Amino acid sequence: MPDVIEKVPYLDLTKEFSELEKEWFQLVRTTGAQGSFILGPNVKAFETEVANYIGSKYAVSVANGTDALMLSLRGLGIGPGDEVITSPYTFFATSESINMVGATPVFADILPGTFVIDPESIRQKISKKTKAIMPVHLFGYPANMAELKKIANENNLKIIEDCAQAFGASNGKHRVGSQGDTGCFSFYPTKVLGCYGDGGIITTSNKELVEHLHKLRNHGAVKPFVHDEIGTNSRLDEVQAALLRIKLKRIDQAINNRNKVAANYSKQLQDVLTAVPVGPGNGIHAYNLYTVRAENRDALRQHLTDNNVGTSLCYPQPLHLQPVYSELGYQTGDLPVSEATCDDALSLPVYPDMPKQYVNHVCNLIIDFYK
Ligand SMILES: Cc1ncc(COP(=O)(O)O)c(C=O)c1O
Repeated sequence: MPDVIEKVPYLDLTKEFSELEKEWFQLVRTTGAQGSFILGPNVKAFETEVANYIGSKYAVSVANGTDALMLSLRGLGIGPGDEVITSPYTFFATSESINMVGATPVFADILPGTFVIDPESIRQKISKKTKAIMPVHLFGYPANMAELKKIANENNLKIIEDCAQAFGASNGKHRVGSQGDTGCFSFYPTKVLGCYGDGGIITTSNKELVEHLHKLRNHGAVKPFVHDEIGTNSRLDEVQAALLRIKLKRIDQAINNRNKVAANYSKQLQDVLTAVPVGPGNGIHAYNLYTVRAENRDALRQHLTDNNVGTSLCYPQPLHLQPVYSELGYQTGDLPVSEATCDDALSLPVYPDMPKQYVNHVCNLIIDFYK
């Protein structure tokens, strides 16, 4: 570590890659030698390993997290004329998946302090057309699944968990992805469990749904060259599955390291910033992102940029106010917590191998800014 820190990247996966490459390349070589590139042994083994880890009976891998959400909706029979309640404070793919199946996203507000959907706001949005709830375990913080399941049971709704950012997070002893009808994970490289390309998986304990998902991800084929519905091509490839199997063995350590980085930030910044993220109390925060709320956020971000510290705005605009949803008729002020959060949230660098000195350096810069 140099005496003077010149740069803190928002994310740095180079150390991880150097540690994994030998083991990964060996598996890739075996895959090449066997010539099994699609739905081969690594994909099959990885699906079993993920189901065991998450605590679901099954897992069906797909090409990315967006497809995991979209195919879950399709598999659960949600389509045109249906409404799905979700959060406006998330990445666009969440609500986009609802539109992709022809249904309509309905946005409920988030809870102050946690960044995840507010069960009370969901209750207010339920209509005769509501078929499902899509909570997002944003930044790695688990939404309140016990409460959401109560709402779903009372109103006969499905739950599709958007777990894209929360691999390994839990409420009590239940991991995210084990409590809804499906859990949808992304393996985009920046995620808690990320591959070196695109990938995704659906967890579920519904056997019938698994059979349907196997069909949907493979062009709706009941057997080779026989198609009884329109599906798509959405498969995880062997090379990524091989890497993910290696990374899955180390995931608890990685989440633990993310928590250490987060705890160090929070200790130093809790009296300086408007809010630092909190853990779920009884459960695990996976800290995919470490997102604070900060007064004068844009100037703080500029100060960090000027000092070569990478940051991100997650998210600058709530989904209900995106241009594509203008016809849904939402107005500024409709979902005030989400809107206010977009105005002052700032994501700081966090990754498992982030050196302590980097965290201290970022904290010192922030403390200096508010002096
Ligand atoms: C909350 C959320 N949902 C869904 C997705 C979509 O995942 P993917 O990029 O793998 O399609 C992402 C990924 O960025 C995400 O952050």
